[in-house]
Amino acid sequence: MKYDRINSELYISNRAKFTAQMHQGTLAVFNSNDIYPVSADSTMPFQQHRDILALSGVDQEESILVLFPGASNPAHREVLFLKETSDLIAIWEGEKLTKQAAFETSGIKTVYWLQQFPTIFKQMMAEASGIYLNTNEHLRANTEVETREDRFIKKVKQDFPAHQVFKAAPIMHKIRSIKNDIEIELMQRACKITEAGVRRLLGFIKPGVWEYEIEAELAHEFLRNRSKGFAYTPIVASGKNACVLHYIENNQQCKNGDVILLDVGAEYANYSSDLTRCIPVNGKFTTRQKEVYNAVLHVKKEAEKLLVPGTIMAEYHKQVGCLMEEQLVNLGLISMEDIKTQNPDWPAYKKYFMHGTSHFLGLDTHDVGLWYEPIQAGMVFTCEPGIYIPEEGLGIRLEDDLVVQESVAPFNLMKDIPLEAEEIEALMNA
Ligand code: GLY
Ligand code: MN
Ligand code: MN
Repeated sequence: MKYDRINSELYISNRAKFTAQMHQGTLAVFNSNDIYPVSADSTMPFQQHRDILALSGVDQEESILVLFPGASNPAHREVLFLKETSDLIAIWEGEKLTKQAAFETSGIKTVYWLQQFPTIFKQMMAEASGIYLNTNEHLRANTEVETREDRFIKKVKQDFPAHQVFKAAPIMHKIRSIKNDIEIELMQRACKITEAGVRRLLGFIKPGVWEYEIEAELAHEFLRNRSKGFAYTPIVASGKNACVLHYIENNQQCKNGDVILLDVGAEYANYSSDLTRCIPVNGKFTTRQKEVYNAVLHVKKEAEKLLVPGTIMAEYHKQVGCLMEEQLVNLGLISMEDIKTQNPDWPAYKKYFMHGTSHFLGLDTHDVGLWYEPIQAGMVFTCEPGIYIPEEGLGIRLEDDLVVQESVAPFNLMKDIPLEAEEIEALMNA
């Protein structure tokens, strides 16, 4: 792991939160992700499943966590099954968690090797009346790939058809929605690494640079700060490319007079940061570019004020729509007539601002969370309004990461990253 070891109190506390929600006599199982193949003997870099990570800190493939708070054997109330390691195995396969290191990471005392799982799990299931299975209930999840968790669920249903089955996902969404101080610190570190990347760019960007050169500068800065790299596929979109919301080609040359939209964030210890900034290629915004920039900035500042305990996200998104509507009228992009005659299901402002304003952020960039409940202190959201005008070859989005706080405005984890148009220009021309 590139990151420093995390305080195991985080995982001990998350497990306590999970087990407090379980029905009596049940157990819960969480599987790691597979290492996904490419072809021949190539594989993708490993990415741990965020739930086993949140409950144990185990960042290693072929791992299983079982929580069984009512187990008659106290040693079986929380158990990790890990891929066996030894001095010999370490020579061939590199460092894997020893039982002691797994304890230090997770706070879990009982650690078995994976080959013991079938026998011990059978014993545990004989004592349990039901099992919590961990399905992916993220609303935007859309994949045909069968995960290690999916295979496990199939097998459990086949081998133990008489057990009651419960959903782990809603409990995990609740736990992961609200970040504790250890997590906020990790997310702050991710944001600080992103800041270092942005500052590096302000002295680098000039007419003629290629989008991929900008991506390379960021990758360099992220990696030298103990990040694995980008938290999500980076968007480095100059000129009209900024109007393609998921532009990830990053293969064009940046032209004098264009603005570059950078939606780029570093990860740290598997926590995402998620930033968008817009930078004039030649170091100076035109009057029109600045007008649009400041309109987005105004919406962002006003929207952030709404990220306080009690806000309902659906209402928030409507209010941001109204804020945006006003700005688009001022910019001459939509008219009052357009608003009067608009389709309520697709209001006029959506022509220039067609995505949501905020999402949960954490171990996943589009993190799981309690979308339908009033927001609470400790939740972390992005705030990312944008205006996209293909006919002007201009797209502006501004995005920061904010922690909801009790009875005060949210804390901006990106408050030190240059945002005002004049500050960006000054730094580019320093
Ligand atoms: N970078 C992805 C997003 O802003 O949601
Ligand atoms: Mn983003
Ligand atoms: Mn985002």
